[in-house]
Amino acid sequence: MILVTGGAGFIGSNFVLDWLASHDEPLLNLDALTYAGNMENLAALDGDARHVFVHGDIRDRALLDRLLAEYRPRALLHFAAESHVDRSIHGPAAFIRTNVEGSFTLLEAARGYWNGLDDGAKAAFRFHHVSTDEVYGSLAPDAPAFTETHLYQPNSPYSASKAASDHLVRAWHHTYGLPVLTTNCSNNYGPFHFPEKLIPLMIVNALAGKALPIYGDGLNVRDWLYVKDHCSAIRLVLERGQPGQTYNVGGWNERTNREIVEAICALLDELRPDPAGPHRRLIQFVTDRPGHDRRYAIDARKIERELGWRPAESFESGIRKTVQWYLQNDAWVQRVQSGSYRDWVAQHYTGSAR
Ligand code: NAD
Ligand code: TYD
Repeated sequence: MILVTGGAGFIGSNFVLDWLASHDEPLLNLDALTYAGNMENLAALDGDARHVFVHGDIRDRALLDRLLAEYRPRALLHFAAESHVDRSIHGPAAFIRTNVEGSFTLLEAARGYWNGLDDGAKAAFRFHHVSTDEVYGSLAPDAPAFTETHLYQPNSPYSASKAASDHLVRAWHHTYGLPVLTTNCSNNYGPFHFPEKLIPLMIVNALAGKALPIYGDGLNVRDWLYVKDHCSAIRLVLERGQPGQTYNVGGWNERTNREIVEAICALLDELRPDPAGPHRRLIQFVTDRPGHDRRYAIDARKIERELGWRPAESFESGIRKTVQWYLQNDAWVQRVQSGSYRDWVAQHYTGSAR
């Protein structure tokens, strides 16, 4: 079986669902269920014995040791993180705790487990670290996209904490020989995306007739990757990636934030017209994010050249699917917005949620 951390979050839950839709290999899902973890993302797996969920923290070494000894996974995929840049600006401590200390604890537990494996299992084991393009810092408008050898220049507490975890993963390979894989991907979007990030926030606000806050001049550029494409890249890297290597994963879709919000508004005008007028009337330019990176762009040629991966979705097809998903999953949105999605934690683990 494989062990996934953070499998109740946005990307992790998409990965878990896609994995079990295409494999019979069981999956152990370890997640602390912070505000970003939502068991409703995994409701389709209720009663499915291939999915074993454990509520726990990646900083809990004793728990990790027990789970590794009991379930003996052939691979560990590390998604768990604090992931929102704006939150990292207001409260960086949680980012250091989970992204740095948590990744360190996981690496140490994995190393202890891996050292005890027989030679065959040791050679086959993989520690796959899921990271971000934000570790590379900000690009000038005409600069070439990030390759795997780009300098690390993180600018936010979030990206600095992820950069730290990438360095730890690299060192555990170089020093101890742990067979690690790292993927650095661009901004994901798609189903189950928590509406604090740009795309889901704009969709749910527009549907509610609320303001669509664009930071600064709205000309910051991100590369957008449909989450299912990210999941297919991770599956391929896990299967065929070279231990010790990093792979950049991107959607070949650079867009300004203005373009993103305009595209969402146009789709909503088509799919759910508002009698009060075009959705773009709700756009408001607001105070910029401190230290706001101007541009991220991924050069995803290495993963294409070496492993044959390219994203299946264009931005146009992916954003249409995403808007349609939010229109069809109003109950999920309501429960996230009201906070009632967290009732699962309260009901199952009275007093233990954070
Ligand atoms: P998310 O915030 O939606 O989910 C994170 C998950 O990790 C949640 O389920 C949360 O409960 C869990 N978690 C947090 N702290 C934990 C801890 N201490 N122990 C156990 N579980 C814990 O994040 P996401 O958007 O799904 O991102 C997943 C990974 O992908 C992260 O490592 C992130 O840095 C990386 N990434 C995300 C994006 C993106 O666009 N969302 C882009 C590049 C890289
Ligand atoms: P976000 O989804 O937070 O991802 P990241 O900061 O990790 O790239 O933000 C994406 C872009 O959208 C980023 O340039 C900040 C901008 N943004 C807004 O303009 N308004 C918003 O309300 C949010 C959440 C983000």
